[in-house]
Amino acid sequence: MTEKETVAVESDFHLVYVRTAFVCFLHWVIVASIVTLCVTGLYIGDPSLLTGKGEAWQTFVMAKVRFFHFFAATTLCIAMMLRLYHSFSPTTRHDIMEFIPTPSNITAALKLMKFYATGEGDHAHYRYLNPLGGLSVFVMACTFVFSIATGFTLYSQQANPIVWSWMLWFPHMMEWLFRGMNNVRLLHHLAMYVLMAQVVIHIYMKIYVDIMYRESDIASIIAGYKVFHKDEIARHADRFAGRTWYHR
Ligand code: HEM
Ligand code: HEM
Repeated sequence: MTEKETVAVESDFHLVYVRTAFVCFLHWVIVASIVTLCVTGLYIGDPSLLTGKGEAWQTFVMAKVRFFHFFAATTLCIAMMLRLYHSFSPTTRHDIMEFIPTPSNITAALKLMKFYATGEGDHAHYRYLNPLGGLSVFVMACTFVFSIATGFTLYSQQANPIVWSWMLWFPHMMEWLFRGMNNVRLLHHLAMYVLMAQVVIHIYMKIYVDIMYRESDIASIIAGYKVFHKDEIARHADRFAGRTWYHR
């Protein structure tokens, strides 16, 4: 255990290192881009929500909103790629396996779900993402991928067919798969509501876990550290070796 991994706070509590500053930063970049995409997407879908003063050519509201939509879309793609890269890097302990729904992750997630629903069983003190959190991030990431795939399919309609000829197989495939651009657009729109629901659940769960277990989960996505009582660390050390605690 290095000094960076844990710092004693008084004698009973430990600040436990969970993630790098860059991974925390990426989280908030993803949050900012999703919020921007939802707000601008709502306007693109229903422009009567915001109108400029004057003629369309004077105000240019839709063009500006679309610009922000595409800017946020690019930011989201870059941030997701960087986060994925970090999931395979030693700085995040190759945490990709915490997100993938392997049979053991699904079993552990179902147990946690049962605990939340009925109070039966117990809630381990997880140093990193708990298995249910990992699974929900996986589902959320699938929605990101779907939004990105349908978004770029819509975007391809304004692409230069000569420059992008080598890439156009993708929108053609999507169009064929979903029986036309209208359906792609509808699904791109509907995916936003699915994502909004997932974000609400995500935030609710983080606030719930923070209040119930008082391990500063929310602070950990800003500062990179969680707080654990030393008794809890000692009690569960062998049970979740390597995965939950700083004990190796
Ligand atoms: C648009 C909104 C949001 C999206 C799309 C989102 C997405 C994500 C994703 C993909 C992760 C896992 C990846 C990682 O560890 O870097 C994550 C983790 C996390 N998020 Fe969010 N998030 C959102 C908003 C929030 C907000 C507002 C909070 C604070 C209340 C929050 C708190 C957390 C925490 C604490 C974790 C770490 C979980 C843990 O280690 O147990 N998120 N979020
Ligand atoms: C989570 C991410 C995203 C959300 C929530 C979102 C949301 C939306 C919504 C609600 C619309 C309006 C659809 C309608 O006409 O009813 C829209 C349109 C559009 N989005 Fe996204 N979007 C996202 C990501 C992307 C990405 C990654 C791209 C890629 C470039 C993209 C490109 C587009 C395009 C091209 C349009 C159509 C614009 C037009 O018709 O002028 N979106 N988006």
